[in-house]
Amino acid sequence: MQKQRIAVLISGSGSNLQAIIDACQAGQINADVVTVISNKADVYGLERAANAAIPSLVVSTIQGESREQYDQRLLAALEPLHVDLVVLAGFMRILTAEFVNQFSGRMLNIHPSLLPKYPGLNTHQRAIDAGDSVHGVSVHFVTPELDGGPVILQAQVPIFAEDDAELLQQRVHSQEHRIYPLVVQWFCQGRLTMIDGKAMMDGDILAAAGYASDDQ
Ligand code: GAR
Repeated sequence: MQKQRIAVLISGSGSNLQAIIDACQAGQINADVVTVISNKADVYGLERAANAAIPSLVVSTIQGESREQYDQRLLAALEPLHVDLVVLAGFMRILTAEFVNQFSGRMLNIHPSLLPKYPGLNTHQRAIDAGDSVHGVSVHFVTPELDGGPVILQAQVPIFAEDDAELLQQRVHSQEHRIYPLVVQWFCQGRLTMIDGKAMMDGDILAAAGYASDDQ
């Protein structure tokens, strides 16, 4: 299969971006990250892009503009690049349905919870406050519903009695860096698709908790 072209969208430190860049460079993912787009200037993820000689772009919000206007500018930045896959890696903006639908079946997100639990923010603290003993991370296709697209792969971590949100976040992060490159690799191998709102792997519909779940 031809090498795929990936855009990675970030808002922060870009450790997931780094994991994907590393996997591309190591030949584990048959793709090139052709652009990194951040909605914030001065974030470390942009340095990571520069270190890997990947062109990057900051699409900052303009005061007073609507969500639709921002997303139109984001789309205008992406369109000329003809990417096969858009990877949201800590991109902390809610995207409009119009934007999401442009990339239906070719946009992935990583979310730090075992979806459908804890969509939105502060997932680690919410899991601790709820007394959960297990937490984790999900990679899913992006649909217009926030953190609501079909799950492709999850990884679980334990929650220990002495955990605070930061400790738990670190434990989740190390799993993120394992599962995100793997899912991107599957996509770039042509194994992963989204059909009728369902995630499919090698032509089979994935269970609600994704590949590797007990009910697979
Ligand atoms: C990651 O933990 C990712 O799961 C989370 O942002 C972090 C980005 O870290 N994403 C969300 O919360 C999206 N709702 P990184 O910049 O080091 O990759």
